[in-house]
Amino acid sequence: MQFIDLLSQKERIRKALLHRIEGILDRGQFIMGPEITELESQLASYVGSRHCVSCSSGTDALLMPLLAKGIGPGDAVLTTPFTFVATAEVISLAGATPVFVDVSPDTFNMDPDLVGYAIDDAVQRGLKPKALIPVDLFGLPADYDRLHAVADAYRLWILEDAAQSFGGSFNGRRAGSFGLVGATSFFPAKPLGCYGDGGAIFTDDDELDMLLRSIRVHGSGVDKYSNDRIGINGRLDSIQAAVLLEKLTIFDDELEARQRIADYYSERLQGRVGVPRIAEHYRSAWAQYSVLAASTQEREQIMQALQQEGIPTMIYYKIPLHLQKAYDFLGYKNGDFPISEDLSSRIFSLPMHPYLDEDEIDQICAVLLRT
Ligand SMILES: Cc1ncc(COP(=O)(O)O)c(C=O)c1O
Repeated sequence: MQFIDLLSQKERIRKALLHRIEGILDRGQFIMGPEITELESQLASYVGSRHCVSCSSGTDALLMPLLAKGIGPGDAVLTTPFTFVATAEVISLAGATPVFVDVSPDTFNMDPDLVGYAIDDAVQRGLKPKALIPVDLFGLPADYDRLHAVADAYRLWILEDAAQSFGGSFNGRRAGSFGLVGATSFFPAKPLGCYGDGGAIFTDDDELDMLLRSIRVHGSGVDKYSNDRIGINGRLDSIQAAVLLEKLTIFDDELEARQRIADYYSERLQGRVGVPRIAEHYRSAWAQYSVLAASTQEREQIMQALQQEGIPTMIYYKIPLHLQKAYDFLGYKNGDFPISEDLSSRIFSLPMHPYLDEDEIDQICAVLLRT
């Protein structure tokens, strides 16, 4: 059994994709070919934002807005410690300091009630709080109504880390559109993934769009050889754009399948492990289906029993970022973010992809229920 099955999906798009790739090979425009513009316009209208800037990865999609907004030394950017390292890493790469805010135990997303404490913490450290990076963990958008209220009160802007939530929504509004700017990832295992690295940035702000397009190509001005600002090589390849264009044709159908699978899991597993709770008006993109064991020891037992039956599982995330060696220099300690620490000690993820069938889910649940 696969944790994420990309091969079944490939069969659905194979013919049309090969046709598109052949066109790229014949035209020879491997960088910034017409597929890029076509993809950006489709993604912008899918997310409901004025602009989409495709780029080389989800990490660069987070880094470029920080560079565009002039985030740097002496600035604090607030994010959660219960996320993939890239979310905090880009803050450090921009020269600023990550300041963590614990997550809510119900959603695993940034707890808006705790943002004020993190701002006080940042100020006490002599930093200037500038921005928030909430993460839409496992595919579920964070609580942006409340996060915007607190961000506005402190004059912070929001960069939405939608790396896992492309396709998710709240009140019909799609993930990627909730901040001043949103960043997503097309890493192959993501809900919408390409066949390599890729990402995209969404914004309604015309000036930010212009800056992002410049930063994506070494801070280019009128052309690549006149450089107006410091940038990166952050472009998406034409071939990856072609993959994404084909995958978009089946994406809504896949999202429905993910929802059915999540419902099917939850019906069977609730009462045995902590299952995800999705509040009214929210839709998750179900990048992961993650559950909570009663203890670390019980998690080990369950994961071992599943492994013995050939069922793969993963732990996202075993070590919260404030306890990672790379962030020793921030001076956090065990106990600083109790919800993230508790989740890290008990959480694990079950296989989740649109091609998982009911027999496979029954098999997974049977092992879990008898362990
Ligand atoms: C929450 C989060 N942020 C950022 C990233 C970075 O994306 P990428 O791997 O495309 O650079 C990821 C992906 O792994 C992620 O899960």
